[in-house]
Amino acid sequence: MSLGLDAASVSALADEPIDWRFKGLPASWWGLTPAQICHRSPDLFDDGPVSPVCVLDASALAHNLSTMARWCRKHRVELAPHGKTHMAPQLIERQLGAGATAITAATISQVRTFRAFGVRQVMLANELVDPAGLRWLVGEMARDPLFELVCWVDSIRGVELMSTALSTAGATRPVDVCVELGMPGGRTGCRGAAASDAVAAAAAASPQLRLVGVAGYEAALGHDVRPDALARVGGYLAELRATAVRLAGLFESEHVIVTAGGSTYFDEVADALGGEWPQGMSVRTVLRSGCYLTHDDGLYRRTSPLARTGLTGSSHLRPALSVWAQVISRPEPDLALVGMGRRDVSFDQDLPIPYGLSGQVTKLNDQHAYLRLGPEDRDRVEVGTWLQFGVSHPCTVFDKWAMIPMLDHDNRVVELIRTFF
Ligand SMILES: Cc1ncc(COP(=O)(O)O)c(C=O)c1O
Repeated sequence: MSLGLDAASVSALADEPIDWRFKGLPASWWGLTPAQICHRSPDLFDDGPVSPVCVLDASALAHNLSTMARWCRKHRVELAPHGKTHMAPQLIERQLGAGATAITAATISQVRTFRAFGVRQVMLANELVDPAGLRWLVGEMARDPLFELVCWVDSIRGVELMSTALSTAGATRPVDVCVELGMPGGRTGCRGAAASDAVAAAAAASPQLRLVGVAGYEAALGHDVRPDALARVGGYLAELRATAVRLAGLFESEHVIVTAGGSTYFDEVADALGGEWPQGMSVRTVLRSGCYLTHDDGLYRRTSPLARTGLTGSSHLRPALSVWAQVISRPEPDLALVGMGRRDVSFDQDLPIPYGLSGQVTKLNDQHAYLRLGPEDRDRVEVGTWLQFGVSHPCTVFDKWAMIPMLDHDNRVVELIRTFF
C-alpha cells in the first residue's frame, strides 16, 4: 500500500482472461491473460486486431507523466489527477508513483471504483448530497481509517443534507469539504463572496463536516486561450485566492487546500494560487489535471500550457492515444469510409484527425467515419488500408474501450490497460 493504493489488486488485472468482451483485440488472445500476452510482447498487428482498435503509446505516456510531475515540482504545486479521464487503475498507479498526492473523481461511483483498488486519497470534485452515497462513504471511512476523501459544498441546503445523512448513517469522523466558488454563467459553485462565506460558515458549524479549503474549476466556461479569456480566468482565480484568505479563520485543518486546474490553464492556476500566502496560512495548492497524461491532437494540442507556449523538445506533451481503423469503402474519388464511428472515438470537441494524410474527417456516424481525401491521398488510400487517427479529448475516447493495448515504438504490446466506466 506504499503508493496509496492496493498494488496487488491492480496487478491482479493482468491475470483475468481476455475474451470477446474486449473489442478490437485479436481473437488469438481469447483465453489468455494480459500477463501471458505481455510476456511474449507480440507486435499487435501481427496478432490480428480487428478494426477499429484503440492504442496507447507507451513512450509518449511515460514522457507526459514525468513532464507533468517535473512541472508540478518546479512550480511547487500538488497534482491530484482527474481519474475520470481514463478510469484505469494501472494508469492511476503510474500517476501515484510519479508523485500524485490524491486522485480526483467526479461521482461517488467513480470513488467506489477507486476504492475497489484501494486508492487512499480521493478528491471528489463535486457536491455529494445523495444519502445512499453518503451512507456508503460512512461505511468505507469506518472500514479503512486511512481513507481520506474531500468533496465540495456550494449551498447551505447541501451542507444540511450532508450533515443529516452523515449523522443518520452514524458517521464516526467528519467528512472533509471545500467550499466551491463558481462564476456567473459557469457550472456548480457559490456565486460571489456573500454566498461562499455563508456556505463556509455553515460547513464549519456542522459537526459532521470539516471545512478544509476552497475549490474551483477555471475551465467551467470553456477552453479559450485568447487574451481576453485568459484575463477572465485570471480574474476568477484571483477571486478564489481572495476567498481562501478571507476564510482563513474558519478552516478546521492545519493545511488549507486550495484547488483548481484542468489541463488547459494549469499555468495560470499555479501562478495565481501558488507562491506566498499571508503569514500563518499553510496552503496546499492542488491541481486536478487529467488529460495531460495522454494529451491529444486537438483540444489540448491547441490549449495545453505545455504545447501552446511554443515550448519544444522535452517539455512538450506528446499525444499518446489514437485509434487505428480500416477503410471499408471508397465509393467516390475523394471519399473513404472508415470503420470507426461515434462508438469508438470522441466527437464532442473535434472529429478524429488522420495521421499522415492531407484530408480530414468531415462526419461520424455510429460506426462510420467520412474521410474526405486530399488529391495526394487518393492513390494511397484504398479499401483495406489501415489508418491511424489522433483524437481530440481523451476522456470521451477512453470510455469507449474496456481494454487498450499499450505499445512500444515497434508496436509491441507492453501492457493491456483496463478501464472501468
Ligand atoms: C472539476 C474538474 N476538475 C478537473 C478537471 C480536469 O480537467 P482536464 O479534463 O482538462 O484535465 C475537470 C474536467 O472536466 C473537471 O470538471
